[in-house]
Amino acid sequence: MNVLAQLKQAFHSALQGMVADPTPYLELIRPSQDAKFGDYQANCAMPLAKELGQKPRDIAQGIVERLDVSQWCDTPEIAGPGFINLRLRDEWIAQALGTVFADAQLGIVPTAEPKTVVVDYSSPNVAKPMHVGHIRSTVIGDSISRVLRFLGHRVVSDNHLGDWGTQFGMIIYGYKHFRNDEAYQVAPVAELARLYRLVRAVIDYHAAVLGVPAQEAALAKLVEQRTVAEQLAASTDAAEAKKGAADLKRLGSRIEASEEGLRATREKIALTEDSPEALARAQAHPNIATSVLDETAALHAGDAENRKLWEEFLPYCREDIQRVYKRLNIEFDEELGESFYQPWLGEVVEEFQAKGLARESDGAQCVFLDGFDTPMIIRKRDGAFLYATTDLATIRYRMKQWQPDAILYVVDHRQGEHFHKLFAAARAWGYDHVDLRHVAFGTVMGSDGRPFKTRDGDTVGLEGLLDRAVEKARSVVDENLEKSKDLVFSGEERQRIANVVGIGSLKYADLSQNRASDYTFSYDKMLELKGNTAPYLLYPYARVNGIFAKGDIDTEAFRATTPTISLDTPEERQLALKLLQFENALLDVTVDYLPNLLANYLYDLTSSFGQFYEKCKVLEAETETAKQTRLALCDVMRRTVRQGLELLGIEVVERM
Ligand code: ARG
Repeated sequence: MNVLAQLKQAFHSALQGMVADPTPYLELIRPSQDAKFGDYQANCAMPLAKELGQKPRDIAQGIVERLDVSQWCDTPEIAGPGFINLRLRDEWIAQALGTVFADAQLGIVPTAEPKTVVVDYSSPNVAKPMHVGHIRSTVIGDSISRVLRFLGHRVVSDNHLGDWGTQFGMIIYGYKHFRNDEAYQVAPVAELARLYRLVRAVIDYHAAVLGVPAQEAALAKLVEQRTVAEQLAASTDAAEAKKGAADLKRLGSRIEASEEGLRATREKIALTEDSPEALARAQAHPNIATSVLDETAALHAGDAENRKLWEEFLPYCREDIQRVYKRLNIEFDEELGESFYQPWLGEVVEEFQAKGLARESDGAQCVFLDGFDTPMIIRKRDGAFLYATTDLATIRYRMKQWQPDAILYVVDHRQGEHFHKLFAAARAWGYDHVDLRHVAFGTVMGSDGRPFKTRDGDTVGLEGLLDRAVEKARSVVDENLEKSKDLVFSGEERQRIANVVGIGSLKYADLSQNRASDYTFSYDKMLELKGNTAPYLLYPYARVNGIFAKGDIDTEAFRATTPTISLDTPEERQLALKLLQFENALLDVTVDYLPNLLANYLYDLTSSFGQFYEKCKVLEAETETAKQTRLALCDVMRRTVRQGLELLGIEVVERM
């Protein structure tokens, strides 16, 4: 059901003859922010007036005279400088709601122009535990895939695993030097994770020790500059004093950050030096960073031992992340990791050379691109290929395999430069008809306004995060169930609810934010029962189930009826209108790949339901028609929320 599209069509006809290309003006027809301006508002008269050199109100008048929306709307009204306000007819809304009610697809028809879209998301570097940073790519990419698919597009979801990088050099090194055979036999995944952390710690320790002098020098320099600024600030010359004060302010925060950094480095050093065992290990492996690179290089060069270890480790690493995906209810069509593309990397570089797109610089093969200060390196001086080379080979493979119209990369915004270059290189290579898109997202922040870390400064592990969310959800569930006397839940059912609520809240907290911004992580906030949270959206669903149960109404039987619908209160009308906007919300998501637009829609919808439920009795409605109308509203709301949440990758609970 897409009434907005129909209204736009009507405007298109009306504008034809007034302007050469009506299309851009159609974007100015939108749902009204305020009910007193009708349900939809068209703001196209103002820019059109400018273009045609006439008065906006006259233009609006001209449009209205040519506009035929009588099928859907009351007579359009012109307001203010030239807004055209459209109010849908109540009978039309009622009839449209009836159509949606009767359709298992909620009135949504698959797109007439299906596209093929490859969605590259999650894509963690395996062999190290997944951390909080992976949650965003995973849930955002999953939701985008679901929405596109639901609208009738062909989606290939591909988990571009980092299964060929330095982290394997790290566990190979760890395995050769630090492994505990018994532990490896019993629980290989856990042992590999331990080895990864251990090697990481030794590398970090040496880097920290090496880094201290430079950090100290930088801090000393800032302190020196502060002394100068202090003198300047004390100057009798007003302009100088002002500059001094500004410098002081700027330096103050830089000094703070620098001290903080130094403190963190010293803490990292202490972590090793406080443990005789860790210190001995670090001292015994002074060149670990280089050795790890050597192990990685040997793997890439086909060294038999390292290759064998890699083949042995990889299934364990995959198993490890599968556990997380299972808990998150995520599945991929493809999981072609970086290693998959290794056989073609040499070829790709040769092709770039042959086409004159790459040339040697300082021994490396570089692609020089217009508009970039630095080239994209595709083969290092020592012959090694890079992340970018693999990404080029991946594009070639995907184009050949699936002929996509678009490839979406749901990846941290910090890789923006990489993707800009990659896309430019791909276009130069000849892939200029595919929409290559970096669907970037911001950082997960802690409540202190810094990137979310554990207390000792480590990144937060994803599994622990999930456990904690479920645990917290369980206590919220328990607390609320104590209050409601009439519902009895077994411990098992409580745990199931806690699972859905915990994981759902975690996903929703992320998806309800505009992906481009950083977002602040808070268990308490995401589990709140009020506000834009998953529990707030889950309640109305369970509540409607409760209404049907209480009224002893069989859902399937009711759905087979044709209820009489008459919208007689503003709350009923508002809820119905919102329900009819579901398809628009989904289409909005696909414009810039913003799942938060769907989340916001669901939030608005459940808020409208809240207002409706407060004002309108359902089972004890005044008339039979009112009862049927309200049950239909409740049911369509329940189905829309369920479907909408499913498209966000979130499950519902039948009662809570
Ligand atoms: N493995 C990479 C990382 O963890 C992300 C890969 C994203 N996808 C891609 N085709 N480059 O940073």
